[in-house]
Amino acid sequence: MCGIVAYVGHREACPIVIKGLKRLEYRGYDSAGVALMNGSLDVYKKKGKVSELEAFIADKDTHATIGMGHTRWATHGEPNDANAHPHYSTSRNIAIIHNGIIENYATLKKHLISKGHTFQSETDSEVFINLIEDIRLDSKCTLVEAVRLALHEVVGAYAIVVLAKDAPNQLIAARKGSPLVLGIGQGEYFLASDATPIIEYTSDVVYLKDHEIAMIHDGELEIRSREDVKQTPYVQRLEMALEQIEKGGYEHFMLKEIYEQPRSILDSMRGRMVVESNQLIMSGLREFENKFVNADRIIIVACGTSWHAGLVAEYLIEDLARVPVEVEYASEFRYRNPIISERDIVIAISQSGETADTLAAIELAKSKGATIFGICNVVGSSIARATDAGAYTHAGPEIGVASTKAFTAQVTVLTLIAMIVGSKRGTLETTKLRQLMVELENIPAKVEQILKLDEEIEKISAQYKDATNFIYLGRGYNYPVALEGALKLKEISYIHAEGYPAAEMKHGPIALIDEHMPVVVIATKDSSYEKVVSNLQEVRARKGKVIAIVTEGDTTIPSMADHVIEVPETSEHLAPLLSVIPLQLLSYHIAVMRGCNVDQPRNLAKSVTVE
Ligand code: F6R
Repeated sequence: MCGIVAYVGHREACPIVIKGLKRLEYRGYDSAGVALMNGSLDVYKKKGKVSELEAFIADKDTHATIGMGHTRWATHGEPNDANAHPHYSTSRNIAIIHNGIIENYATLKKHLISKGHTFQSETDSEVFINLIEDIRLDSKCTLVEAVRLALHEVVGAYAIVVLAKDAPNQLIAARKGSPLVLGIGQGEYFLASDATPIIEYTSDVVYLKDHEIAMIHDGELEIRSREDVKQTPYVQRLEMALEQIEKGGYEHFMLKEIYEQPRSILDSMRGRMVVESNQLIMSGLREFENKFVNADRIIIVACGTSWHAGLVAEYLIEDLARVPVEVEYASEFRYRNPIISERDIVIAISQSGETADTLAAIELAKSKGATIFGICNVVGSSIARATDAGAYTHAGPEIGVASTKAFTAQVTVLTLIAMIVGSKRGTLETTKLRQLMVELENIPAKVEQILKLDEEIEKISAQYKDATNFIYLGRGYNYPVALEGALKLKEISYIHAEGYPAAEMKHGPIALIDEHMPVVVIATKDSSYEKVVSNLQEVRARKGKVIAIVTEGDTTIPSMADHVIEVPETSEHLAPLLSVIPLQLLSYHIAVMRGCNVDQPRNLAKSVTVE
């Protein structure tokens, strides 16, 4: 979490930095700040959103061609002006922006205090900059050397940018664990936590690697390792287009992203499936196909919504490929001494590709010899680089904090994997494979059809916007969808919601049901349909308010439910790709009606780079 952005070149730095911070605001929005260098090194920072910072600096002299900015998701210290970044060193000669966590900051701080350094904030980042200053003073070395030496002393994760008053044409950046992208323009450079602040100016980028230090000095870029060895930068071309990161007429990114799903699902299968010739191609999988075919077990590690996609994959892979699958919360997996062997495959799913818990789970599984396959959305992200192989989801940038199109893209890619492994293992016969391929190809058009129900769903939402609790029920493939629906509602509308396997209700949660309890029942036509209908009747008998997601043409459920939302028929294997769409829209509308900040819900950030 936290977004950082920096600029050095021939343009005014401040507007570029502020605009970049707005693009990165999804990463954290507790406070924001900028540092600008023009003779002096001036820091302006404020609690709250980037727009508040913008108003605060409106009457200041912000003229500078070198500057940096930060938007914060608080880890150490409450969100206030003092804890906002950038942070000065004690002498106010140098300043830092930092994304990450310095684990040994308390020890370092004690030591620095004993040497006369003073602190204005409770942050670990202020410790970092004072450490750099301390080394610089003690060793009488250059700024870049002081940064390099400091990196040997800090334990934890960081992406930093450092500016110094007495090094007016210099900008230094480094990373370990937290992302940092460097954009290379004509005589100008950009640094940011992801490519979105950069794309408008240049498509040539370098993804800095862990332990690399970039120095831009008098317009020249040099990258060195922490061991001071010169590195050759690998310049990549960004595939992203500017309109992908703008709202494009939608009121919120979340709504835009919900509506993008026909396209993002298609993009996630594009080039990977040729129905006419019964072909499935996933280049990232090819080299490891035999490992998948012979795997003893597949372990899926992920968090949040990505974990829900993992649960869908458990049903898919076990059913179609007959390989045992375990789905683990990355944060639990890494701390429970799991049994992993070289014949296991670990699939790590992450939209951002930066989730600290998932990264740590990958490292653990790697150390035990498992093959790691990544499913990420963000190209070049830390998880994408930490895995042995992988497949990108091609959902395009997801800016709304609540994950929507990333989920359906993940499920699409996982479906393809299950089909590939199933057909290679001979557990998925050709006719069935072909049926599934045809069905999958039709999914984007069916999602399009569901999106037409938006107004109807908005009307239903209006009736439940003041509810204080919700229950979501589903079975089989729709059980993870129930969990996902509940997560979507609670994270953006702050209504308490629980997702349950429908049959589990009678083992406890049914006690919650009365006439005030809205219950969303996902009851599409599949192998557990009859059972779900019985569960629905149990809710009804206790006067719960039923919102049912059903297959088009269902004649049984409408008489038992208060509201019915119809989705087109599909194979039960693909049901989550359709049944999740009305739930995304339901939570979106409820949140809007409750006046919540849909794209930036309280306490959350888009990429969770802390444990
Ligand atoms: C929910 C949501 C989170 C993320 C989770 C994992 O809408 O966005 O639950 O799914 O933080 O993030 P990634 O997929 O980036 O690893």
